[in-house]
Amino acid sequence: MIRYNYSLKRHNTFGIAARARRFISLESAEEAKAIIKKENFNTDNCLVLGGGSNILFTGDYGGTIIKPFFNKITIERKSSDNVIISAEAGLEWDKLVEWTVENDLGGLENLSFIPGNVGAAPIQNIGAYGAEVSNLITRIHALSLENGENRVFHNEECMFGYRDSIFKNELKSKYLITSVEFRLKKSPVTFNLSYGKLEPGGEMTLYGIRKAVIKVRKEKLPDPAVKGNAGSFFKNPVINMHSYADLKMRYHDMPSWRTGTGHYKIPAAWLIEKAGWKGKKAGRAGVDHKHALILVNLGNAKGTEILELSNSITDSVRSKFGITLEKEVNII
Ligand code: EPU
Repeated sequence: MIRYNYSLKRHNTFGIAARARRFISLESAEEAKAIIKKENFNTDNCLVLGGGSNILFTGDYGGTIIKPFFNKITIERKSSDNVIISAEAGLEWDKLVEWTVENDLGGLENLSFIPGNVGAAPIQNIGAYGAEVSNLITRIHALSLENGENRVFHNEECMFGYRDSIFKNELKSKYLITSVEFRLKKSPVTFNLSYGKLEPGGEMTLYGIRKAVIKVRKEKLPDPAVKGNAGSFFKNPVINMHSYADLKMRYHDMPSWRTGTGHYKIPAAWLIEKAGWKGKKAGRAGVDHKHALILVNLGNAKGTEILELSNSITDSVRSKFGITLEKEVNII
């Protein structure tokens, strides 16, 4: 279905009242292909929208927004230990996780309760509580936005990194992901508890882990339905050993994780809190009072107000720590 001058308020978790000049709902991969072939999208003027949970609209969108609504889950293949499933792009991410847990398939449980849709998950390589979706993805099916041709991407071709993939870089805005394939473990008996704050208690089952993750997320992160937000606004910065040693001398309490490459990842939330921003308001935009990495819409904020607040935070963290925060959220 095609709509004009369409409100995006329900389609972004910040709850920004921007409008799209044209908005196309896609009900199947075949329909997506047919429409793309007919339209020959100019990719500078076409935006694929998922659940809208990682996007900030700073004004109305003058081009065409296309949004997949197709959402089937299919079991593709089974071996003695694994099952390959595919999920269509428009499926709500957490519905997929719930389905895998109900079917006793392991791998996605630590990624419970992340807002957004399946098609967007690989783009920013969603991750939480010691897991990253890139470790479960086998292949991605996509359509070129320029000519509607099918393309299959194998995991290695996606150039996954921390909140990063080829779809955010060389192939940004070039493809519509139609479905994602995952390799999951049948009836797993071991679980990923590397993130210390997960406490499934006696319930060492997929369901127990899912419950523990949902509990931590609900405690820590504001519900977008109550307070508009897009999860972590910035990435956690990775700094080299010299900068780390320098900062650690000045701030003994600075938390950090050593990465495989001998660098250090610093929680952006800590930097932002230390720079005095936690719970601060700037007009109708604010920094959440429970988690400093979450910028919130306090009610009818414009996207530009949130963007301005984020820029003030970046400036202040840069001048205090010499670290430039990189945004995780897509600014449109
Ligand atoms: N912290 C503060 N102040 C705060 C909050 C946190 O100083 O207000 C410090 C604490 O030291 C805490 C550390 O920051 O131990 C890390 O906080 P948390 O465990 O909440 O994780 P995060 O690094 O802020 C990342 C992901 C989240 C993911 C969690 C859990 C990024 C950018 N964010 O957040 O992902 O849920 O880990 O694994 O990597 C998202 O990407 O949108 C997202 C929510």
